Amino acid sequence: MLTLSGVGKRYPTGDRALNEIEVTLPKGQVMALIGPSGAGKSTLIRCVNRLVEPTEGNIRLDDVELTSLSGHKLRQARRSMGMIFQEYALVDRLSVMENVLSGRLGYVGFWRSFLRRYPQTAVAEAFRLLERVGLAHAIDKRADALSGGQRQRVGIARALLQSPKLLLVDEPTASLDPKTSRQIMRLIRELCAERDLGAIINIHDVALAKQFADRIVGLRAGEIVFDGQPSELTADILTTIYGEEEWDTTPEPLESDEQNATRPASKRTQASNVVTHMATGGAS
Ligand SMILES: Nc1ncnc2c1ncn2[C@@H]1O[C@H](COP(=O)(O)OP(=O)(O)O)[C@@H](O)[C@H]1O
Ligand SMILES: [Mg+2]
Repeated sequence: MLTLSGVGKRYPTGDRALNEIEVTLPKGQVMALIGPSGAGKSTLIRCVNRLVEPTEGNIRLDDVELTSLSGHKLRQARRSMGMIFQEYALVDRLSVMENVLSGRLGYVGFWRSFLRRYPQTAVAEAFRLLERVGLAHAIDKRADALSGGQRQRVGIARALLQSPKLLLVDEPTASLDPKTSRQIMRLIRELCAERDLGAIINIHDVALAKQFADRIVGLRAGEIVFDGQPSELTADILTTIYGEEEWDTTPEPLESDEQNATRPASKRTQASNVVTHMATGGAS
């Protein structure tokens, strides 16, 4: 279980990115964090793994108080959190397998990883994970030969190789087409269920968040303005989170990925389009 209490962040520039954040994420829960660009979604995720130092509050993962850790203890805690990024952060000239194994860097030590010698158990587990994410056929390919969706699958396998207690996922689908986005979200969702893993997923696309998350938290200007079930996310609440817009909250018809991918953009859920449009208008 992850608990954030009274978490705040003011950057040295004076920007207040987070204010009095209170969230508890039970084990196994998939939470989507939505909100406009600049709302503080990335800051929140990065405060959890301490890539950003919160200026106020406490964060606990199970029985570990994360905010007070340093050195070896901090590195150990970070390993228990798998991070998946929008831009995948793969090493292009390395193979798929090597990229996944780099998820073990914290364990194997600098020289062994430099010499690219990994324990056989890690290689076997990496292979199992690559099979699970649908990349068994591509383990020897160079990362730069993959499609966006395949690159994100490598990122997912790499995050899981650490056997994390929690996944922190920042805009996993921002560079992907709608069909691939759904496949990636479905994969993350299934893996969380299989491993009873909790996840915080920052995502611009409201329709995707509603379809694949157990819970939605809406952030606006560093404050939580909604915390509830996907079904409770009404047009009024979307307006609170994102500002005035014409929201179409009619439920999406159930359909296959293939059908959706071939629909013209104008026919896909309107909320998703509006949010995507807004998102690309600002820095993210
Ligand atoms: N490294 C930084 N230094 C100063 N301000 C920052 C930094 N990173 C983010 N911010 C500011 O903090 C706020 C929240 O940003 P961010 O967490 O990236 O939001 P989101 O991920 O929701 O787009 C914004 O006002 C942004 O300009
Ligand atoms: Mg962000």
